[in-house]
Amino acid sequence: MLPELPLVDSFGRLHNNLRISVTDRCNIRCFYCMPAEDVQFMDKSELLTFEEIERFVRVAVPLGIDKLRLTGGEPLVRRDLHRLVARLATIPGVKDIGLTTNGIFLADQAKDLHDAGLRRINVSLDALTAESFKKFTRRDGFENVIEGIKAAQRVGFNPVKVNAVSVRGLSETEIVPFGHFARETGVEVRFIEYMPLDADNAWERSKVLFAHEIIETLSASIMPLKPVSDKLAGGHGGPATDFVFEDGIGRIGFIASISQPFCMSCNRIRITADGKMRNCLFSHDETDVRGLLRSEASDDRITAAIRSSVASKKEGHEINTARFIQPDRPMYSIGG
Ligand code: 5AD
Ligand code: SF4
Repeated sequence: MLPELPLVDSFGRLHNNLRISVTDRCNIRCFYCMPAEDVQFMDKSELLTFEEIERFVRVAVPLGIDKLRLTGGEPLVRRDLHRLVARLATIPGVKDIGLTTNGIFLADQAKDLHDAGLRRINVSLDALTAESFKKFTRRDGFENVIEGIKAAQRVGFNPVKVNAVSVRGLSETEIVPFGHFARETGVEVRFIEYMPLDADNAWERSKVLFAHEIIETLSASIMPLKPVSDKLAGGHGGPATDFVFEDGIGRIGFIASISQPFCMSCNRIRITADGKMRNCLFSHDETDVRGLLRSEASDDRITAAIRSSVASKKEGHEINTARFIQPDRPMYSIGG
């Protein structure tokens, strides 16, 4: 049999990275993602089962997908997530499985997840006091997240990264504490510029705290940051640009989606918890993979659907243009 052609889109981008949302539910209510009240969650019957997710991945791997990341909503509210990890970890060709979690349930589940074959964890944490945590999440839980991060390190996750969304008017007080946190714990802190994916449609460019501003603050308040070459650091070529403090202690990354879009090197496709494939966070079209999985569709038909989604991928997100229209699905229903 001839090897499958890789997933290259019309701009020459090669896709090897699949983000799988396993639920749209969440136990907190970050303002940049969810509405405060009355969230309409998907019905359980709408969610892809673990079997369906596994089949999709088995079809996608021969097309060159070798990196997976489980997301949500909050993936750890999906019961027995470690069983899905174990299934995916045994698929030949899957090189790397990561998880992005808010960390609240992590202390309980860290060991099972590690035993199942998960190795990389990103914990979303925007603030370093319980009080400012609540300004982002509208819920309590700060201490649980810190416990979750410690537990993840204890059971052997490496790297453990923290994702902090950077919002003007809220994040300024957190920058220097995060710098010290990175230096003291060995956790890499990555600041993500606030993107227009909030359910409330309240995003404005003026509310984004930009990566370069954070770099200036950290350099002036702690010590200069120097860029880390991705290759030297054994990095995975993702959208983050990584820095380390001049004395070599403490890694800080930036996902500068607004001030320095990285669409031209995007290697990602996504599948939502209800089985819709999306070729971009900001895309307005999706492909109904669940319909195929629940009919008698052959692997070839699913392959064709994946290829056609990749083929129709747009050049970039256009957030910095007047043409930009926020997608209908907010972050919790796409999967970060
Ligand atoms: N802008 C930037 N980052 C976001 N995330 C969720 N919503 C937004 C947004 N509007 C982050 C989460 C998580 C990751 C998956 O995406 O904090 O870390
Ligand atoms: Fe939940 Fe993550 Fe959305 Fe926060 S960003 S509400 S943790 S899904």
